[in-house]
Amino acid sequence: MIPRRQLAEAVMKGLERAPAVALLGPRQCGKTTLARELAARHPGAARVFDLEHPADEAALRNPLLAIERLRGLVVIDEVQRLPELYPVLRVLLDRPGTPARFLLLGSASPHLVRGVTESLAGRVAFVDMQGFSLDDVGLVAERMLWLRGGFPRSFLAADDGASFAWRNDFLRSFSERDFGTLGLGATPASLGRLWRMAAHHHGQYLNASEFGRSLGETHKTVLRHLEMLAAAFMIRLLPPWFKNLGKRLVRRPKLYVRDSGLLHALLGIPDESALLGHPKLGGSWEGFAMEEIIARLPHDECYFWATQSGAELDLLTTIGGRRVGFEYKVGDAPKLTRSMAVARHDLDLHRLFVVAPVAKPYTLAAGIDVVPLADAIDAASSGKVRRPTD
Ligand SMILES: Nc1ncnc2c1ncn2[C@@H]1O[C@H](COP(=O)(O)OP(=O)(O)OP(=O)(O)O)[C@@H](O)[C@H]1O
Ligand SMILES: [Mg+2]
Repeated sequence: MIPRRQLAEAVMKGLERAPAVALLGPRQCGKTTLARELAARHPGAARVFDLEHPADEAALRNPLLAIERLRGLVVIDEVQRLPELYPVLRVLLDRPGTPARFLLLGSASPHLVRGVTESLAGRVAFVDMQGFSLDDVGLVAERMLWLRGGFPRSFLAADDGASFAWRNDFLRSFSERDFGTLGLGATPASLGRLWRMAAHHHGQYLNASEFGRSLGETHKTVLRHLEMLAAAFMIRLLPPWFKNLGKRLVRRPKLYVRDSGLLHALLGIPDESALLGHPKLGGSWEGFAMEEIIARLPHDECYFWATQSGAELDLLTTIGGRRVGFEYKVGDAPKLTRSMAVARHDLDLHRLFVVAPVAKPYTLAAGIDVVPLADAIDAASSGKVRRPTD
């Protein structure tokens, strides 16, 4: 069992500031395991309901009776299965003295998020969850986490072959079952093609019309399906930053498959040697490093930046109120490029981190440093960025 300290802490902090926390993440990322662990460790009373379990489901058909007397921590797993629960929860969350706090779990979907936000507005803190991160598995496992991705059963599989097979099964059941429950009316086969296409365009600007032409769909349908995949935490549509300068900027979002292991399964990359020789190697590193960094930021204001004349920055965000940029380079000795210098100057970046699989950081120019992923993660989670000269 791999402890997930950061997430456990985020949930406990959420429960201090709100009477309920919604812990949302994709299927199989470890939600139930974490919630049961928290319930087991909870100093006071704790009760877990699983709405996929018939007895618990039956008990919660009379929710007031089942829950009103409970004290301490109450976990409700698969909460999206019983939307009738929301109005009752609202009453229970508003009781004076908050006699019980609630941890609500569900597989991320727009439907669930809407249900919770609309019914329980202002009473619920959200904690987003993905598979394992570097904090969970440790720096020594960076390569393996990159290759296999963070889904626990993929990461912990006995060998690369078993991990690859698990991910292919996961993708299949996602297309056939879970995506169907999002109410899209698309066939598993067309979703399978959409997924593979997303993987081939990983790290590129989204061109929904081109997707539409290949898939025989309208670009609106493609966008709707991609937005659903994004809401289910499967892909990320990173928005462009275009608020400055009047330069001609790229305004399309950039598309990423969030879990590097799923990306590799979709691209047919079973092991490290296939990854190292694959044309998507750079894109894969970019997506992996980016997810690790974004997961540590206390906010979700993240953009990329690109001018029509070719200057680019992979990630633009703020840390501790200062504007910071990240570039990802898969080579082990990145050099200063004109694009980096332009981005630093035009965006007035406090720091630009060039994240590469290097052992030690080194400086390229004032405010521009090559750093290992671990250092970039430290900067993102500390909330502070220092210049080496500060
Ligand atoms: N921290 C962990 N260490 C080791 N294995 C884990 C950990 N978390 C989850 N797993 C394993 O990963 C699998 C999925 O975990 P879990 O059932 O908790 O995920 P889930 O997000 O609740 O999935 P679902 O959405 O399908 O209900 C299980 O086999 C579980 O044992
Ligand atoms: Mg579960």
